[in-house]
Amino acid sequence: MDDRYFYQPAQGHGLPHDPFNAIVGPRPIGWISSQSAAGVLNLAPYSFFNAFNYTPPLIGFASIGRKDTLRNIEETGEFVWNLATRPLAGAMNASCAAAPPDVDEFALAGLATAPSRIVGVPRVAASPVSFECRCSQIIRLQGASGDATNTWLVMGEVVGVHIAQALLRDGIYDTAGSQTILRAGGPADYFEITAASLFQMRRPDYP
Ligand SMILES: Cc1cc2nc3c(=O)[nH]c(=O)nc-3n(C[C@H](O)[C@H](O)[C@H](O)COP(=O)(O)O)c2cc1C
Repeated sequence: MDDRYFYQPAQGHGLPHDPFNAIVGPRPIGWISSQSAAGVLNLAPYSFFNAFNYTPPLIGFASIGRKDTLRNIEETGEFVWNLATRPLAGAMNASCAAAPPDVDEFALAGLATAPSRIVGVPRVAASPVSFECRCSQIIRLQGASGDATNTWLVMGEVVGVHIAQALLRDGIYDTAGSQTILRAGGPADYFEITAASLFQMRRPDYP
């Protein structure tokens, strides 16, 4: 028997669960607050999310289908990313409910808002880190054949950063102490960042 299981996604994976997002994982969570032009607040988690550039800092997430967050950002050009942590895991999960556009998921998840400084969209008050963002691009993704998918990549420039003072130790951001949660595979798996999983390695000099 071949020691590698091989499949072509276009023909199905043939396994009990799609391994794709269990392999590319755990992934950081884009917990995105946004607001419609009419002022309805929205909050939802997106784990097809990451950071892509330092200067200017750019982050992005993929909306699989045209969801409220995407529509709000198209309308206002603004959003806020909030760090999802272990104490906020239940609220983060509650905020993913497929609620109608007029439902404020801050209220649904029992979360208070805190004002942003630059953009009009508020932050999750209890989240220790938030990025205020201005939308830089919205790209409808396509497959290798050039066919359009039903997915939109929303990119934003980080224009304001809020960090809880407790997470700055001698001015250094304490990732290990942040209790950040990450999305893994399957219907329910998450990981929490802990100090025990930290290891360090410096880039080699060349030559
Ligand atoms: C941890 C987590 C990660 C998620 N990641 C994504 C994602 O990357 N893309 C997506 O379209 N939906 C994702 N979802 C589902 C959305 O959160 C869900 O569809 C939500 O209702 C969208 O809200 P909105 O319509 O208010 O934007 C995720 C849900 C959870 C719990």
